[in-house]
Amino acid sequence: MECDSSCDLTAKLEEKLNLSQKEDAATDGDSDITLRPLDLTDVDDFMEWFADDNVSKFCSWDTFTSKEDAMNYVADIAIPHPWFQAICLNGKPVGSISVSPFHGTDRCRGELGYVLASKYWGKGIATKAVKMAATAIFVEWPHLERLEAVVDVDNPGSQRVLEKAGFRKEGVLRKYYLLKGKPKDIVMFSLLSTDPQVNYFM
Ligand SMILES: CC(C)(COP(=O)(O)OP(=O)(O)OC[C@H]1O[C@@H](n2cnc3c(N)ncnc32)[C@H](O)[C@@H]1OP(=O)(O)O)[C@@H](O)C(=O)NCCC(=O)NCCS
Repeated sequence: MECDSSCDLTAKLEEKLNLSQKEDAATDGDSDITLRPLDLTDVDDFMEWFADDNVSKFCSWDTFTSKEDAMNYVADIAIPHPWFQAICLNGKPVGSISVSPFHGTDRCRGELGYVLASKYWGKGIATKAVKMAATAIFVEWPHLERLEAVVDVDNPGSQRVLEKAGFRKEGVLRKYYLLKGKPKDIVMFSLLSTDPQVNYFM
């Protein structure tokens, strides 16, 4: 698949990141993590995580059961989204990461979301992707003051990702959202554009 100019930006931004030893492990040897926009030819890869109950467990969407639904999601949600990228391992999409903007008086904030196919868990890939996304978004959206992430209290793996990526744990918000119809508490995390760990590309 052809890589567009966002890959160049990602590559430059990646050089600027301070990666921990664990994230370095994700890029050891022949492995390489990059971010790029999804397109319709990615649907088969996309099904690897969107058709997985382990992945959808803490997500607002239900597990996809048909390629057609996935195709529609990519066409109607992912492609028009203002910042929705595939997380690629050696060029192959293995997950996705997004930043959703807020509007009006909340436009200083964006909300981060990410998912990874379960066979790639535990290799530092999500942590590296979060650092890359955070670095990129504060450059691409200079009006953004705060990147926040809302994580289910029962999802310690995702909380750990944000801690490792330098986000601050701000507290627990009770019964904040409905997960598959059930009210759940969440942990609120944030990273500010002025936080020293945001070593972004200028
Ligand atoms: C959350 C998710 C993205 C993490 O991806 P990943 O690439 O495995 O994350 P990393 O390897 O970078 O880091 C995971 C960390 O969580 C830890 N972890 C994983 N499961 C854990 C658990 N049940 N309890 C405590 N820590 C856990 C790992 O040990 C690792 O920390 P370490 O490096 O200190 O050992 C992935 O599990 C996923 O896609 N889950 C389903 C979707 C989801 O929950 N998305 C987030 C919604 S907010």
